[in-house]
Amino acid sequence: MRRLENRAAIVTGSGRGIGRAIALKLAAEGASVVVSDIDPEPAEQTAAEIQSHGGKAITHVGDVTSISFGEDIVAATVEAFGGIDILVNNAGFTWDGVIQKMSDEQFQAMIDVHVMAPFRILRAAIGPIREAVQREKDEGREVFRKVVNISSIAATGGNAGQVNYSSAKSALAGMTRTLAKEWGRYRVNVNSVAFGFIETRLTQAFEDTGNALEIGARTVPAGVPRAAIEQIPQLCPLGRAGTAEEAAGAVFLLCTPESNYITGQTLICSGGLE
Ligand SMILES: NC(=O)c1ccc[n+]([C@@H]2O[C@H](COP(=O)([O-])OP(=O)(O)OC[C@H]3O[C@@H](n4cnc5c(N)ncnc54)[C@H](O)[C@@H]3O)[C@@H](O)[C@H]2O)c1
Repeated sequence: MRRLENRAAIVTGSGRGIGRAIALKLAAEGASVVVSDIDPEPAEQTAAEIQSHGGKAITHVGDVTSISFGEDIVAATVEAFGGIDILVNNAGFTWDGVIQKMSDEQFQAMIDVHVMAPFRILRAAIGPIREAVQREKDEGREVFRKVVNISSIAATGGNAGQVNYSSAKSALAGMTRTLAKEWGRYRVNVNSVAFGFIETRLTQAFEDTGNALEIGARTVPAGVPRAAIEQIPQLCPLGRAGTAEEAAGAVFLLCTPESNYITGQTLICSGGLE
């Protein structure tokens, strides 16, 4: 039996990497998915892949850091699928540097994408969620909804070179814990998954990527030194990097009914890497 039949899900940053794998997994389990990304082509590819397997998906293209993004994606989701049951705040990138070389712009960019964007999306989502909860209450039904905020072991343990990213993901952890308390009354489970080293374009050797990533109009350095990647088998108890599909599995766990009594938590999905 599929676990997420009749659920409507938003997955930001689902054109590529972990978000794409989450969108495919949720859809394979029966959810209707809003595939959202700043880049239209990858978003369309993910949605087309879902549809080719008989699933339901629409795309919503936009920059999560734009002021109206939260209101827009929530309205598009309600219009397409009638409500929101699962919200995965995944869109993001890194822009590394040691603190003495880090600009205000570089720090602020991480706050914008990993804190302000989830805040605005969540603020917009609670309107339709509360309306749905009231209807369900009148019908005597209790329905659990799921928020999964994507984090990193850079937040739980810190990571040299990522003071911007780890500060932003730590703020997201505070948001997760607080909304778990605010939204328990609406039966919304608000949790986080913190990843270790998952193979995506963010974690490619920068010797391969040319050390640059296009995020909208901005070009940021990306990638990890090959020497650091080569240390993963020694540092990680499970002996290798994770796949996007393994990452999506952890998110899926927090979207199932089995997680209905879990809220305000961070699940670390890192193969034991700290
Ligand atoms: N890969 C890892 O090892 C790792 C570890 C810990 C946490 N994370 C987190 O997982 C999430 C996904 O990362 P990934 O590794 O799959 O990277 P990725 O680059 O493969 O995919 C991220 C997607 O998000 C989109 N995106 C980025 N900024 C956006 C914006 N402003 N608006 C809309 N879409 C935007 C990108 O276009 C891309 O398609 C991020 O939040 C990242 O910080 C990744």
